[in-house]
Amino acid sequence: MGAYYFGIPEDLALFFYKNHNAKYFVETGTYMGGTAYWASNIFKNVVTIEIVEEIYNKTKEAYKNVANIRFMNGKSTIILPEIITQLNQELLDDERILFWLDAHYSGGVTGGENLQCPLIEEINLILKLNFNSIIMIDDARFVLCANPDKNILSDMPSYDVILAALNSHGKRYTIIWRDVVVSVPIDIAESVYRFFQPTVGIQGTMFLDEYIERSKLSIQKIHYKINKKLRAIIKKV
Ligand SMILES: C[S@@+](CC[C@H](N)C(=O)[O-])C[C@H]1O[C@@H](n2cnc3c(N)ncnc32)[C@H](O)[C@@H]1O
Repeated sequence: MGAYYFGIPEDLALFFYKNHNAKYFVETGTYMGGTAYWASNIFKNVVTIEIVEEIYNKTKEAYKNVANIRFMNGKSTIILPEIITQLNQELLDDERILFWLDAHYSGGVTGGENLQCPLIEEINLILKLNFNSIIMIDDARFVLCANPDKNILSDMPSYDVILAALNSHGKRYTIIWRDVVVSVPIDIAESVYRFFQPTVGIQGTMFLDEYIERSKLSIQKIHYKINKKLRAIIKKV
């Protein structure tokens, strides 16, 4: 499945930007705008879609000085067709759109509790309108195994359904890496494969180190936290 990882794998997004002309970044699920803001420092243009009006208003206000982020409020599946059609007209030559699909109910104030995962419809819309897009789907672990605290299992598409949707407009190269489903058109598969290859086999260690570094927790505290969570899960079963 790939190690638990927080947020977008920045090195991979940068690789797509530099090596595969992904100059536009479209995100479903804005939340606090952290990823959109990061992307605005790299990509020509960023579009981010949020279903909850209050979250949309707050985040838009927080980043009102960032000129190249376009905040949209509404269901991703309603807004995506309009956005992709517009971007198709702006794209130069072989420029691509990088999609970061992250719209799912995440508890608390987040939205989507009645439609927990619009992923399959999002994929279909994207591929129908721009097959050359690069697609990254966050939280692969929940796709493969619904989060028991927040997600309804029957609302989460299984991996074979996701793969079928990704290949429904033509074969693509799709892998799971650092908790992200990554799917690219087959013509760039070899280059992308070469990007992933050096990290195969060392993900676990590498990202545990990264996690320690980011969270400033000691390894003992991390093990304590993991064990506590495991005990709580075992108790529930
Ligand atoms: C995991 S958070 C997004 C985090 C954000 N992408 C980031 O990297 O910082 C998921 C967000 O998706 C929103 N959401 C849920 N369903 C949605 C939908 N159908 N369309 C748009 N946004 C949706 C939720 O309200 C929530 O704010």
